[in-house]
Parts: sequence; structure tokens; C-alpha cells
Amino acid sequence: MQYIRIARFGGPEVLELAEQPTIPQPGHGEVRIKVLAAGTGFTDTFIRRGRYPDFKGPLPFTPGYDLVGVVEEAGPGVPAQLTGQLVADLCVVGGYAQYAIRPARFLVPVPDGVDPAEAVCIPLAYLTAYQMLTRYGRLPRGATILVIGASGTVGTALLDLARHLGLKAIGTCSATNMAVVERFGATAIDYRAGDFVAAVRGLTAGRAGGVGVDAAFDAIGGAHFARSFACLAPGGLLVGYGAQTMAVGGAGLASAALGLARLKLWNALSGLFGGRHAVFYNITSRRSAHPEDFKADMVTLFDLLRDRAIHPVVIDRLPLAAAREAHTRIDAGGLGGKIVLLPWPQGVISG
Ligand SMILES: NC(=O)c1ccc[n+]([C@@H]2O[C@H](COP(=O)([O-])OP(=O)(O)OC[C@H]3O[C@@H](n4cnc5c(N)ncnc54)[C@H](OP(=O)(O)O)[C@@H]3O)[C@@H](O)[C@H]2O)c1
Repeated sequence: MQYIRIARFGGPEVLELAEQPTIPQPGHGEVRIKVLAAGTGFTDTFIRRGRYPDFKGPLPFTPGYDLVGVVEEAGPGVPAQLTGQLVADLCVVGGYAQYAIRPARFLVPVPDGVDPAEAVCIPLAYLTAYQMLTRYGRLPRGATILVIGASGTVGTALLDLARHLGLKAIGTCSATNMAVVERFGATAIDYRAGDFVAAVRGLTAGRAGGVGVDAAFDAIGGAHFARSFACLAPGGLLVGYGAQTMAVGGAGLASAALGLARLKLWNALSGLFGGRHAVFYNITSRRSAHPEDFKADMVTLFDLLRDRAIHPVVIDRLPLAAAREAHTRIDAGGLGGKIVLLPWPQGVISG
């Protein structure tokens, strides 16, 4: 069995391809999954750096936030009919491997005929986008949203779902990714070329609901939340969902904490801010608090994927041995989509 191992936190060089002679056995309530596709993304690099608040080890560990694969063996206490089922899992770590031992309780079936590499875009990127768009109130068709970092995996998922839900989208990205954003029918703003707050206000001037957007989604965090909040129309909602500047070492923990405190303050004093409010979204804590929503929303998204109503952007499919290369490219930024690791050589995925 091949897998990727991280024995110390750091740069892409800490990702090592490792092998073991035996295949792991599932324990009570667990299954062994033959992994067909492992998603890579910014959050994996956040974990690799040792900065991710929700995972600090123990070392060594196998990274990989989400996976799609076939249940090969069910442990005691798991319904035998799960065996042979294609499933998706939001595992947080453990995806970059040919096999993963996972608790059965959070697994979601993946419909037949769906490409595993596209399916693995659902558990982290699309679920985050979908829950942020739908679980804090209903945005009516025609409402306008602002997506910060619109060329990223969550950003493109937000744009794709916005298009599906009949929303208008404005997205910030760097100049090289304007076409990625525009491909989803969104208006792109190059955030490096000027003040995006002024650009959003210009684009939304004269709107019936007031200047600004109905909802904004921001994972840059810290002081950046104030700029996104300034883009809201009266009654608008800011969803913060990350601390990207802190993750890459551009700002400290204090700045990220201040960003979170601001969200709470704006929400508590919403009346003083024209009914504008703010929340923080976290996929794993929301899954723990509302496991039934997690499963229902995953099923909805897989149905949309099967029906070709949504279109995840997979920019590359690479073997496990290329995990270092994938992280180097994510660290450099500007990817415009997701790199998926395929742990098995093409054609060796069954049995
Ligand atoms: N809270 C949760 O539950 C949750 C769930 C999933 C992800 N996240 C977080 O969400 C963030 C995005 O994840 P991802 O997988 O989408 O990452 P990604 O694919 O690497 O995308 C990040 C995007 O951010 C853009 N960006 C960087 N600096 C920017 C700035 N100053 N202004 C605007 N855009 C900027 C980049 O755009 P350009 O390349 O075009 O410059 C890049 O496309 C990460 O911080 C991740 O940890 C949180």
C-alpha cells in the first residue's frame, strides 16, 4: 500500500511517498476504502504547515481532507451492504493513500457514473459553498453575492452554485484568473489592480435594495473582513470562513482572532449597521452540530453533479507521487481549480 506521510510540519518537501507491506483492517464501526480520488487544496497546505487550528497531529500522519473511493471491507457493526459502494468522505486527514480506514457513520454514497475526480470536489469545496449559500437564510433568485477569492476551489464552487440558484455573482481574483471567474457568468474584479470595495459599490450603484451586495463570502480573514462588510447592502450578510492570511504567515493569530471578534460584534450590533450581519462558517463544527444537514446537502450536491447541473473545475489528475508538486503549485497560488490525486495507476482501480 502506498501513501503520503508527513513526519514534521513545513513546506511541500515534508510530503513523502511511503509504502507498507500490509493492507489495514477496519475495526468496529469502520470500513476500509480503496481510494480512487483524493482532493488536494489550500486547507491541506494549511494543515501541512502546522497552522490549522483543528489539526495539530500527532505526527506522522497522512494528509488529505476529502476522498472518494469504494468500500472494500466493512468492520464489525457496519451493514455488509455498504461493501462495494462508491462513497465520499470528509476525512480532514488521511486521503492521500491507496487505502483509508474510516468510520462508516459520515460516509455518503456517490451515484453510479459520476467521475471520482469531480466527485471529490464535493465534500469540502462544494459543501462549504452550498451550506454558506443556503443554511443562513434564503437568497432569492436575482440576489447579488460577492465572492472573495473567486478563482479558488471554494470560490468557483460558490460561482457555480450561484449560477445554478439564479444569483448574480461578483468575484475577486488575480488578473490571470479573470477568465476562470467570467466562465461562470460572474463579474470579475482584479483585487490587485485597485480597491475592490469601490469597484463593488460602482457595480451595484442604483440597485433597488441599496448599493452593495446581499451576501459576501470571505476566507482571507483578519482585517479583510471589514472590507467585505463594507461591500454589503443594508440587510446583507457576510460569511467569514477562513483566515488565509494567517495560514500563510502573512498575519498573526491575533489578527485572525480580531477578525472573528469583528464578525461577532457586527452580528450583535446589526441594528447599528443597517441590519447588516455576519457569521463564521466552519464545515467540521457544523457537521458535528448538524450531521443530518451534512448528509442531506451532500446527497443534494451529488444529485446535481450526476445531472450535470454543476461543473467542478478539476485542473489536473496526478499520481500520489506528485503530492509534493501539487502542494508547490497550491502554495504558488493562481491555480483556478482543484488538483486531484489518483492513488491507483489508471486501469488498476477494481478489485
Ligand atoms: N471554514 C471552512 O469550513 C472552510 C472550508 C473550506 C475552505 N476553507 C478556507 O477557504 C479558503 C479557500 O480555500 P480554497 O480551497 O478555495 O483555496 P484555493 O483554491 O487556494 O483558493 C484561494 C483563492 O484565494 C485567492 N486569493 C488569495 N489572496 C487573495 C486576496 N487578497 N483577495 C482575494 N483573493 C485572494 C486566490 O486567488 P488568485 O489565485 O486568483 O489570486 C485563490 O484562488 C482557505 O483559507 C481554506 O482554508 C474554509
